[in-house]
Amino acid sequence: MAGKHAKLCVDGGRVIELPVLEASLGNDVIDIGTLTNEGYFTYDPGFVSTAACDSDITYIDGDAGTLLHRGYPIEQLAEQSDFLELCHLLLNGELPTPSEKDAFAAAVAEERHLPESVAEMVSRFSPGAHPMGMMTALTGALAAEYHDGLDITEETHRLATAIRLIAKMPLLAALTYRHPKGLPPPPRQDLGYAGHFLHATFAEDESYEVNPVIARAMNRIFMLHADHEQNASTSTVRLAGSTGTNPYSAIAAGIAALWGPAHGGANEAVLNMLDEIGRPDNIDKYVARAKDKDDPFRIMGFGHRVYKNRDPRATVMRRTCHEVLAELGVANDHLLQMAQRLEEIALQDEFFIERRLYPNVDFYSGITLKAVGIPTEMFTVIFATGRTPGWIAHWREMVSAPYKIGRPRQLYRGQTARNYVSLEERD
Ligand code: ACO
Repeated sequence: MAGKHAKLCVDGGRVIELPVLEASLGNDVIDIGTLTNEGYFTYDPGFVSTAACDSDITYIDGDAGTLLHRGYPIEQLAEQSDFLELCHLLLNGELPTPSEKDAFAAAVAEERHLPESVAEMVSRFSPGAHPMGMMTALTGALAAEYHDGLDITEETHRLATAIRLIAKMPLLAALTYRHPKGLPPPPRQDLGYAGHFLHATFAEDESYEVNPVIARAMNRIFMLHADHEQNASTSTVRLAGSTGTNPYSAIAAGIAALWGPAHGGANEAVLNMLDEIGRPDNIDKYVARAKDKDDPFRIMGFGHRVYKNRDPRATVMRRTCHEVLAELGVANDHLLQMAQRLEEIALQDEFFIERRLYPNVDFYSGITLKAVGIPTEMFTVIFATGRTPGWIAHWREMVSAPYKIGRPRQLYRGQTARNYVSLEERD
């Protein structure tokens, strides 16, 4: 076999040769696609060692704490770029030129409206409806409205879908906040992406002014969540998209996957946890609970499947959190102080050091969002809004090249074949 390859020895000496595919960064990959012809599947619950696709979009080195989008470090992007530039980068592979940037921003601004049926749908939910449930349903409703004539084999349709989703997500997010208070005011085209979101969410009348510090923080929050390669929700979007389904519904599936507390629901869970801890002198008790194997309690916002070092997004988020709290005059916020104390204690504890558990991006994003006035149950909606360009860039990357329907295998451990027993014969 030419090129790099691996040898797998099975059945007392039978050798199967498998090609090794070279990565431009990170681990090379053993191509096991032909293994099924040899009578084997591979077993990898949680896909911890499995690459399900190849991708050019995002690279993470979890040991080094590195996150690159199309080669650019997230810290540089978060400091020097903005969300729409990042959307362009994720979708098209390059930062936009000045004229491309203007054209992209104008195309997004033009889509800042919702079909009437979708906007009105929000009023049908009960007053206590969870914003993530509403967000999933509203995105599904976009699928219903933008299905006729959509041809995912056409690049112009794929790009239009991406732009539409990026433009409409902040409006859907704003609707979940305003529910059951009514619709957002007409969009102000002079506002940037984050400013537009703040206006759509909070403006009661024309006197509403966007605070530039808060808009910058929201811009960063969207950027820090924009993409994270093949995480659970992105893999869900790819898997759903691999059936050729409507892309808006693939994104709705991604939103559903994001909701869980082990993924995007973590920022909401951090705030609930801090509330539950209540006082700094309770922290030791909760750290002890997190270490107890018989107790399901975990420190929310700590740990990550890929980062076994500091999450580079958490460093930017921590700084942004301090900026926002200082701007709003609440730098002594009780929750922030608790979070800092909890972080200090956990980072010095052998249990967390040995397992390389560090704060992730959501440890500080929740406190920032709370200060901005976003209700806790809506935090994951903000994450979904930020993650939309990542999801749609991965969907577009997949459907723009030959792809297979996703169909994992299993290790079957159930009953072997047996005959049906009639009801009368069963005890
Ligand atoms: N608190 C306490 N212990 C933890 C934590 C935590 N937050 N996270 C992991 N551990 C421990 C586990 O108990 C396990 O200990 P053991 O080796 O003694 O059994 C060890 O660390 C490894 O944990 P796993 O669950 O095997 O790690 P995995 O990579 O599967 O999980 C996950 C990663 C789900 C993020 C986990 O760290 C977690 O539940 N964290 C809290 C939830 C959270 O913040 N999620 C957000 C993820 S980031 C994002 O989606 C933006």
